[in-house]
Amino acid sequence: LHVIHIAAEMAPVAKVGGLGDVVSGLSKALQKKGHLVEIVLPKYDCMRYDVVRDLKALDVPVESYFDGRLFKNKIWVGTVEGLPVYFIEPHHPSKFFWRGQFYGEQDDFKRFSFFSRAALELILQAGKKPDIIHCHDWQTAFVAPLYWDLYVPKGLNSARICFTCHNFEYQGTAPASDLASCGLDVYHLNRPDRMQDHSANDRVNPVKGAIVFSNIVTTVSPSYAQEVRTAEGGQGLHAVLHSHSKKFAGILNGIDTEAWNPATDPFLKVQYNSNDIEGKAENKEALRRHLGMSSASIRQPLVACITRLVPQKGVHLIRHAIYRTLELGGQFVLLGSSPREFEDIANYFKSHEHARLILKYDESLSHLIYAASDMFIIPSIFEPCGLTQMIAMRYGSIPIARKTGGLNDSVFDVDDDTIPVQYRNGFTFLTSDEQAFNNALERAFHHYKNDADGWKQLVEKDMSIDFSWDSSSALYEELYAKSVARARAANR
Ligand code: ADP
Ligand code: GLC
Repeated sequence: LHVIHIAAEMAPVAKVGGLGDVVSGLSKALQKKGHLVEIVLPKYDCMRYDVVRDLKALDVPVESYFDGRLFKNKIWVGTVEGLPVYFIEPHHPSKFFWRGQFYGEQDDFKRFSFFSRAALELILQAGKKPDIIHCHDWQTAFVAPLYWDLYVPKGLNSARICFTCHNFEYQGTAPASDLASCGLDVYHLNRPDRMQDHSANDRVNPVKGAIVFSNIVTTVSPSYAQEVRTAEGGQGLHAVLHSHSKKFAGILNGIDTEAWNPATDPFLKVQYNSNDIEGKAENKEALRRHLGMSSASIRQPLVACITRLVPQKGVHLIRHAIYRTLELGGQFVLLGSSPREFEDIANYFKSHEHARLILKYDESLSHLIYAASDMFIIPSIFEPCGLTQMIAMRYGSIPIARKTGGLNDSVFDVDDDTIPVQYRNGFTFLTSDEQAFNNALERAFHHYKNDADGWKQLVEKDMSIDFSWDSSSALYEELYAKSVARARAANR
């Protein structure tokens, strides 16, 4: 199959969180299975140009309409970790991707609706005939209605559209009047069965549009797929998901096991693997030294958290976990981006012996923290999939996670007799209160302190779990193939 992903992120060239990991991890896995995979991204000023090989501009610009005017966009092409990537540089006076950040601009709706349209123009004007166009999250959700409204009539009709929603909290809604800029129009407005937002008649909802107009709709874990079908979990979209339930599936993400591999990871002090975990202690020591923390005892458990510090991630429990870990005699390291709520205590802990809060995005430090830590907390209020629990396990850091979304599908409690013993890999808790969290953390400390052999076996076991994209990419492959086959049968 020929698959083109259109996305706002891709690791490591343009990554904010898990979306970036998924776009590159899934693409690599599909490429390995013999499919032709290409990716279309915005050409951000702040992306990592050092990881793009052979970046060059194409001679011919791609023309796209916006606000009724024609823009000649420069197209760049390069290779990122073996994957062919097109970067669109809009020729627009608002310099949409020249802002020093990926998201969070007041004109994000314009920036990404422009990009979605330009990406389709690129596919059309380059004469590509993809079998699947796979778009991700609200930023590229416009692709689905645009494809059927404007591009099938222009002859770009080879593709089936797959939309993956990585997080239903972000729907990209905007005043209805903003939609016309990218060429989508009245046909979608005032229509609860199309793009009209559920909460306000005069607003449009790109995620809803993608659910309605895609052939395949997925989200990133089976449990989250169930949660969003309910009024509480669906963030207003449960009804439209019900109407389109036949094409909706939850597929658990994998991780890129080459990028996340403690046996080869260049960011570690010492590499190690599940047959020889001694290296973990040296990494722990290296991290403590790097951060200026006390290293009195190697048996003092180090608890870590690496996250975007947004409400979804259970910020109150992360804050609480720092204090509770110290009370229990452990050490705590937090690496957090989008940190507004933590600046006060980061300062407080800046020279503490046993805790450090680093409030920034830092790829290389994240690798060392996964390797150095003994336990890893993910106390999310909701979590569509979550990758950090899987990465932590791959590095032998035992997850302590709330049972929600993808955490519920990947972390299974060591002390839960109802779960077959071979699946038990961490510590879980159900409710979002401090007591529930304490119970899980304290049980982890108890195992760590009183059963060193058992803990070592748990670390070795977690490191051996297969979190690669092998099986999940096969599920995407199956959905793609079925959808393509259905279209061919219908055209026969
Ligand atoms: P989300 O996509 O909601 O942020 P995920 O668990 O799916 O959550 O993915 C988070 C990804 O971003 C992981 O690869 C994690 O290591 C990385 N990450 C999160 N915060 C930071 C940070 N402050 N510095 C470096 N990497 C981070
Ligand atoms: C979103 C979700 C996260 C998921 C990631 C990749 O950012 O918050 O749970 O793992 O996308 O799908």
